[in-house]
Amino acid sequence: MSAKRRSSASSRGGEKRPKAKRGLGQGQPRKTAVITGVTGQDGSYLAELLLDKGYDVVGVVRRTSHDSYERIGHLLDRIRVVPADLLDQHSLTAVIRDAKPDEVYNLAAQSFVPTSWTQPVLTGEFTALGVTRLLEAVRLAHPQARFYQASSSEMFGKATETPQRETTPFYPRSPYGVAKVYGHWITVNYRESYGLYAVSGILFNHESPRRGLEFVTRKISDGVARIVQGKAKELRLGNLDARRDWGYAGDYVDAMWRMLQQPTPEDYVIGTGEMHSVRDLCDVAFGHVGLDWRKYVKVDPQFVRPAEVDLLLADPAKGRRKLGWTPRVSFEQLVTMMVDADLERRP
Ligand code: NAP
Ligand code: GDD
Repeated sequence: MSAKRRSSASSRGGEKRPKAKRGLGQGQPRKTAVITGVTGQDGSYLAELLLDKGYDVVGVVRRTSHDSYERIGHLLDRIRVVPADLLDQHSLTAVIRDAKPDEVYNLAAQSFVPTSWTQPVLTGEFTALGVTRLLEAVRLAHPQARFYQASSSEMFGKATETPQRETTPFYPRSPYGVAKVYGHWITVNYRESYGLYAVSGILFNHESPRRGLEFVTRKISDGVARIVQGKAKELRLGNLDARRDWGYAGDYVDAMWRMLQQPTPEDYVIGTGEMHSVRDLCDVAFGHVGLDWRKYVKVDPQFVRPAEVDLLLADPAKGRRKLGWTPRVSFEQLVTMMVDADLERRP
């Protein structure tokens, strides 16, 4: 079974997620939101959040030879799925022209850092220029829409200060990080050039049972489940010393929404303000099922990156102050939630 198929099964069963409250007040007209990347981890949580708030949700899906609806299968009768691709200007403009959305969330990207070294040009097309294409679509077809760009802590890369905040200089360490820096600045530029309500959310790593299997948190939770069930004897990983600020994706999509409800468009750093190593992740995940990770984890050079981001730690003070946003799920809760979901999923 392909990684994509297996990861997508994650939208079923095992996930215990705090319920979002209903949002749009009585008598207010329904808002429309366009989400690119709706089939991805964040897209699926954001669609749920916006539906709960009473939005009409239009999800942009690219054409593939098989459907990629596994994470949003449970939402398909409640959202409108429309075809478009970040590579294709006309398709994006048509979506914005037809939907006339109040809000546009650009979550689509080539989002896996290692792939950005093997496919740097495609990563630039999707993750960098794709942002300009969507901004052009908004500018030309419906400039009153509010625009959210999914920027990344990966832009801080070889961080010049810790913790990282909105004013910390960027020093990307991968073609993905470089592409995200472009996406960030073109968003700022369209805000300043054309007066668009465009914001860049600089989000630190966020995970869930719906995370793709190739990312380290899910690779570990899935690996633990496979070992417990006798399907694997070991788990091969790369740099165990890397440190990240890991939060729960369900919490982070709420921050995206809050950014677009503010009186003025501004950029925000979103993270927990807590940092853990990959080693800590192994400790919690294996410890949750009573195993000692040292007996199972092997370091494999094929998973070590040509240039590493050693540590990322958010200073989320601005988001807390202006958006009233705080994470609800702790690191331990996140990791054990993911392990439990992977254990439940495998018979
Ligand atoms: P993800 O699970 O990898 O989802 C990416 C989405 O982009 C998928 O729906 C994918 O569609 C879509 N996509 C890729 N190329 C496309 C194209 N050419 N045209 C249209 N759609 C395309 O990513 P995620 O974790 O949800 O992250 C969402 C966004 O936040 C991404 O931009 C990511 O870079 C950014 N971000 C993520 C994190 C994090 O920790 N998760 C942190 C900071 C920023 P398919 O289903 O067809 O592949
Ligand atoms: N994927 C992976 N696989 N990572 C490993 C492994 C392994 O076997 N072993 C160690 N790591 C380390 C990586 O070297 C990295 O330092 C860290 O674990 C996290 O890797 P990922 O989970 O792949 O995430 P990422 O930090 O590279 O990127 C994610 O977060 C960014 C925000 O900072 C992605 O979601 C990006 O799209 C996002 O922008």
